[in-house]
Amino acid sequence: MRLESPAAANAGVASKGARTSHVIVLANEKGGSGKTTTAMHVIVALLKAGQRVATIDVDSRQRSLTRYIANRRAWAKKVGVALELPDHHAVDRADGRNMDENDAAEFAAFANAVTAVEHTHDFVVIDTPATDSHLMRLAHAMADTLVTPLNDSFVDFDVLARIDPESYEVTATNHYADVVTEARRQRRIIEEAVADWIVVCNRVGQFETRNGRQVVEGLEILSRRLGFRLSDGFSERVIYRELFPRGLTVLDALEEPALGQKASLSHVSARQEVRILIDALRLPIDERGKRRAAARAEWFRNAGQSLDDPEFVEK
Ligand SMILES: Nc1ncnc2c1ncn2[C@@H]1O[C@H](COP(=O)(O)OP(=O)(O)OP(=O)(O)O)[C@@H](O)[C@H]1O
Ligand SMILES: [Mg+2]
Repeated sequence: MRLESPAAANAGVASKGARTSHVIVLANEKGGSGKTTTAMHVIVALLKAGQRVATIDVDSRQRSLTRYIANRRAWAKKVGVALELPDHHAVDRADGRNMDENDAAEFAAFANAVTAVEHTHDFVVIDTPATDSHLMRLAHAMADTLVTPLNDSFVDFDVLARIDPESYEVTATNHYADVVTEARRQRRIIEEAVADWIVVCNRVGQFETRNGRQVVEGLEILSRRLGFRLSDGFSERVIYRELFPRGLTVLDALEEPALGQKASLSHVSARQEVRILIDALRLPIDERGKRRAAARAEWFRNAGQSLDDPEFVEK
């Protein structure tokens, strides 16, 4: 069966009508722009705010988010510390000879993952690959919040729009911007909802260069044309690269010796920039969840930690 992508074919998965969770999609057709790193920090921030978080890794080739979460689970066990974990689902890669059957199998895996979590979690965070595919487009059409991390160069800018080489004016939109515009259009048709699209400028230090400023000016013009918001993202810091093997984030208590990570001043500044990003995303974080999280943290301070607590250890 050929899986096509008209709104009707995807409506069952893409429509929020039946969903109670808020879907956050991390996406950019440009590889290595920081999707998975940003996804993991958003996930842990939400978990620490007491939210029920499910995650879906649509990047069936690299599976970086799946590995990041597996590393976190393994490290928590190894050092005997309770680390928050999401309810994670990965879309397995279909490697058959028939492309249509592969598409169908991956679509079914994705639909099953969505069905499993859409009523039971406050947030579903979806990490996507840097390639245009049926699933990648479907994930875009599901987004309540679409987060597109971008580095400071015109090479990254190019996925969104073309720039005049003399005046640096935006002359036309490019492929990825058109993909997002079409996905948002589909979403409006299905349920009259508009996805909040935030382009996040990563490695922000470099945006202070002349080239970086020109990129930001181009993005500001483009944000009005395409209807996205702009936010600062994470600075270029070694710590973001170091934490992956242990599944940790800068939001974890890295200053605690139990986590086995050498503390640094950098992680304190990094933590602050993650908090600023989370605020900028304006997510519907449930206050009851926040209170639950505060009560739990207090309980752990008083009673010590138990890895047997079902709230903390993933099934
Ligand atoms: N703020 C940062 N400072 C330093 N290194 C970073 C930062 N953000 C991400 N990185 C590193 O850059 C690389 C790419 O990041 P990441 O995997 O998050 O990008 P991605 O967009 O998910 O990539 P892909 O398109 O391959 O899925 C990784 O090695 C990551 O550790
Ligand atoms: Mg990735």
